[in-house]
Order: sequence, then structure tokens, then C-alpha cells
Amino acid sequence: MKIDNFKAETWMTLHENNCLYNLADACAQSLTLDELLNFSQDKETKIQDILNMKLDYGPIEGSHQLKQGILKLYQTGDDDQIAITHGGINANELVLISLLEPQDHIITITPTYQQIYSFPQSLGVSVDFVNLKEENDWLPSIYEFEKLIKPKTKMICLTTPNNPTGTTFDKTFLEKLVVLARKHDLYIFCDEAYRGLGENEVSISDIYEKGISTAGISKILSAAGLRIGWIKTPDKNLIKMINERRDYHIISSGSLSDYLACVVFQHYDQIIERNKSIIQENKKYFKSWLKDNPLVSCVIPDHGTVCFLKYHLDIPSAVLAEKLQQDTGVFFVPGACFDLEYHLRFGLANNPQTVKKGLTLFGNWLKTI
Ligand SMILES: Cc1ncc(COP(=O)(O)O)c(C=O)c1O
Repeated sequence: MKIDNFKAETWMTLHENNCLYNLADACAQSLTLDELLNFSQDKETKIQDILNMKLDYGPIEGSHQLKQGILKLYQTGDDDQIAITHGGINANELVLISLLEPQDHIITITPTYQQIYSFPQSLGVSVDFVNLKEENDWLPSIYEFEKLIKPKTKMICLTTPNNPTGTTFDKTFLEKLVVLARKHDLYIFCDEAYRGLGENEVSISDIYEKGISTAGISKILSAAGLRIGWIKTPDKNLIKMINERRDYHIISSGSLSDYLACVVFQHYDQIIERNKSIIQENKKYFKSWLKDNPLVSCVIPDHGTVCFLKYHLDIPSAVLAEKLQQDTGVFFVPGACFDLEYHLRFGLANNPQTVKKGLTLFGNWLKTI
């Protein structure tokens, strides 16, 4: 099975570890284990629980407590409507591989997270794209999806908030999309890895019987290292089918990750508040930085942790990102990794000190070229 190179992942693997100022990270500033346990009144008990823990497979399909924690992100659902996975990336893979067959057709957006289209293409699925346009604040119309529907269309795939543009598909938009999907009996699959930092961010799994949501604790909950993700859908048979396939992929997420992910959800409100305030501080700085740096513009999103900077220079994005990193240590993911030139992916929830220093260096560097 041939598969296209995952461009953003490859870029990060090659460049991320030798940068000084990572301005591209999509995860809200990761927690240390100590910071996580410090949220608890009973830190010592938790440390003892961890030290006494048997390093076995743990609850194979994920613990009840973990699934109840995950439901904090949804308005509806119970344990049977959730499958626990190895991060959101494995959740996406399991949804796509369980439902799609060669010759099926799906519709998604571009630019977006490459897994959503390259992985299905590797299965022999054909993909059509709705182009998100910056001049429309990256928001498409329902008609753009409608006109791409074919007899073989099985699924509409969205990432909301989107990576890299940060676009949120709000309740009104999703409700209209549900009407369209229902008419053609289509699944709507939403990668919701970045959902949960804003008010009024609806999950497709709460409003559509063939809606599938995937997410994880990496981005808005700052715990990527635990590798916990999930799939949620009202369709219990689909969860059963996915769990049967999941047996071939991951067996379990492991007792330690399950336990610590439950701790993350015990302190859900505190972690979300922490990350909202990081984003607020960074956005404030970034807005004033933009005023001083007319070579860069950006549609700043309401939600999520990432946005897509546009720079007004005729230099290919990979060349610019590489040179910038060499000269200053500032790291971005170039737009080329998302098939859109003259852009850079910027993470709005990174450590504010890093963001301020990195943007200052970037601004000074722009003046020298
Ligand atoms: C849209 C989107 N989905 C899923 C993932 C995978 O996240 P994880 O496997 O860490 O939960 C990412 C990571 O960058 C992402 O941007």
C-alpha cells in the first residue's frame, strides 16, 4: 500500500528538535507530570497509585472513568458510544479504515490535516476538496460541498477547529451540513482535536446520527505524551465494529496512560482555564506585533490553538522557514506542508515567553531580507 509522505510530520521530525523558539507547536504548552499532579489535593496518594501500578495492558477498551471524563467535552453519549485509541491520529485511522473501501469517494477541505485525505487515498478512495479561501476568512459555503457529491460519496470530512487555519465550523454551519448529509445518507466525520476552548463549539456526534467525532488530550489538554485519543459517535454498532478492528492495532492504551488521562479529566476545568489564558496573552501580543509587521497578515481564529500566517514576500515557504530557523532559531511549519504557499503555521498556545521572543526575532529578521 503506497502512501504519500506526511509533509508536516516529516518537516517537524527534521527541524523541530534543533530549534530555539518553536512557534509552530499545535499543542497547548505541554504539562509536566509534576504540574499535572499539583492540580490534585491528594498528590501523594496518586504518586503511590502510580508506583504500585502493575504495568499490564490495563482496561483493554479504556476505563469507565476515562470515558466519563471524555464526556465532559460532549452534550450527549455514554460509554458504548466511545472507543479509546492511541491518540487522535489512531482514532482518525480507525474511523477511515473501518468505513472506507476502494472506489468510495469522500469530500474534505484544503488546507487541512493531511491524514484526512492522504490516508484514504492510500486505501484507493477518491477525494474531492473544498478550497478554503483566506479572503472569506477560510469559511466555505454548504453549496461548495453539495456540488461535489457523487453517487459513490460516503463521507464528508472536516477538521474543526481546522489545522492549520483555525477555522471553526459553527453550529449553524454544521446543522446545514447535517441536512445535506442526511439527504444523501453520508457520514460526517469531524476531527475535533482542537475543539473545547471556546463557547458554542458543537460536536458533530451530538447533532447527527451518522456523525463521528475524533479527538484526544494532546492539544487543548496539554498531554500529548500520554497518547490518549478517542472516537465518539451515537452509532453504537459502529463503535463495536471499530473496537473489533482496534484489537488488531493497539490492544489497549496501557494502564499508566489511562490512569493519568483520568487525572487530566479530573482537572479539566483548571487545564482549560490555564490554556485559555495562555492563548489570550499570546493573541494580545500577536495582534500588536502584526501592526508593526505589515509583511505578515493573519485571519486570527476565535478558537483552537493554531492559525495560518500569510507573509507578503515572494519566497517559497520551505525556503523561508529553513533560512529563518538557520538565522534565528525560530521554527515554523511552512505552508508547503499544507499545499498552500506563502503561509506559515503558528501555534497560539505555546509558552508566551517563547512566542514573544520568537515573534520579535522573526519581525527583526523580516526587516533584514
Ligand atoms: C487535526 C489533528 N488531528 C489529529 C492529530 C493527532 O493528534 P494526537 O494523535 O496527538 O491526538 C493532530 C496532530 O497534530 C491534528 O492536528
